[in-house]
Amino acid sequence: MDPIDRLREDLIEAGTFGRIPPERVERYDQLDPQKGITRPTGTEANKKFRDYAVERMKEAGLAVTVDNIGNIFGKKEGFKNTKGTVMFGSHADSVTNGGMFDGSLGVFGAIEAMRRINEEGFENERPLEVVIFTGEEGSAFKQTLLGSSVLTGKTKLQQALGMKNDEAITLEESLKNIGYHGASLRGLDDIEYMVELHVEQGPILSKENMPIGIVENITGIAWLMVTIAGQENHAGTTPMKMRKDALVAASEIISFVNKRANDMVNELGASTVGTVGKLNVFPNGTNIVPGRVEMGIDVRDVNKENMENLKNETLEIIKRIEEKYGVDAEIQMPITHNPVPLSQEVADIIEKSAKQIGISSKRMNSGAGHDSQNMAEKVKTGMIFVPSINGISHSPMEWTDWEDIKKGAKVLTQALKNLSRQKK
Ligand code: GLV
Ligand code: MN
Ligand code: MN
Repeated sequence: MDPIDRLREDLIEAGTFGRIPPERVERYDQLDPQKGITRPTGTEANKKFRDYAVERMKEAGLAVTVDNIGNIFGKKEGFKNTKGTVMFGSHADSVTNGGMFDGSLGVFGAIEAMRRINEEGFENERPLEVVIFTGEEGSAFKQTLLGSSVLTGKTKLQQALGMKNDEAITLEESLKNIGYHGASLRGLDDIEYMVELHVEQGPILSKENMPIGIVENITGIAWLMVTIAGQENHAGTTPMKMRKDALVAASEIISFVNKRANDMVNELGASTVGTVGKLNVFPNGTNIVPGRVEMGIDVRDVNKENMENLKNETLEIIKRIEEKYGVDAEIQMPITHNPVPLSQEVADIIEKSAKQIGISSKRMNSGAGHDSQNMAEKVKTGMIFVPSINGISHSPMEWTDWEDIKKGAKVLTQALKNLSRQKK
């Protein structure tokens, strides 16, 4: 089978795991905004994705191991194992009703690169190792980049394993249920490089008709999970002056986050973004003054100071809103991921690799979070982006043309070959 057909087949098949019904989507015009991918950690769909990837890894002759946070590794030794490993891959989970390439492209692109390297009879000097991370999206266990946070020591294993999903099931139980709770944690000492292939998830490459992006910086991410407690009451009988309306209080926070982020962009030329993407209203009845609201606030910037400023100003506003509306706000802050620069050495090698095979590329930043930002704090890390049609992602309408996927896989393969022979 032509290599692109093989990768295409893997992505289409993996795109049935978490889609209801599990249809095979092969073309953009088959996408349906109601039928995205929902594959959070611990679900049956997440297990199917992992099982399918592990089968492909074994077929490619890789030695597969699973660590105790559920990250999966598939290793091919190098002919000089004395040099540091080149790791590459992405994540197994998805957001709710997400797209079929986020994470999946990096996983199956990595496996495809391994297959090509094997078929070409290329002798890798350094060990090459595919990685599939657990819980990158935070869709089940409320912390993004979970598997890489534990791998890199930012989050303690026991703390992560004790986190609960919406069904109050711990991550440890969830991993056991799907058969991916390994015996021990993989250390990082032997790893020298990390590379992740990913869809851009933004509009730049598609607009500029540029097939490859090479990432220089990844955004920081701060999440504030806020529960506002007011007073649930009758919508007809409670006078306006006597209400503690949790949703009205929340709406003011939403407006603040949006307006302040816009002001920072307009006044400072900042790359700040602020979003309230999660909102649960209780009891959620038309004739009831809302008594409780849960909201998830997402604040990002590649500039740490801007991110911290918007986060801290939002915390201030929440305090003022508590007083103004007589409500109580409880705030939980999962770990804040700092913005990180990626390795210039790896970026240069990716650029050289693209040139060697006649594919053009440009340097850019990532506004999406990636496990690579955790890895970049410990090992030399690079990312390869391919275009997202209309810049759409975290949506069922996420799409990348097969021709661009082919180019991404080729650049990844070439970069791995070069990295595996890198002298330093
Ligand atoms: C992860 O995909 C994120 O950017 O939230
Ligand atoms: Mn994502
Ligand atoms: Mn992703």
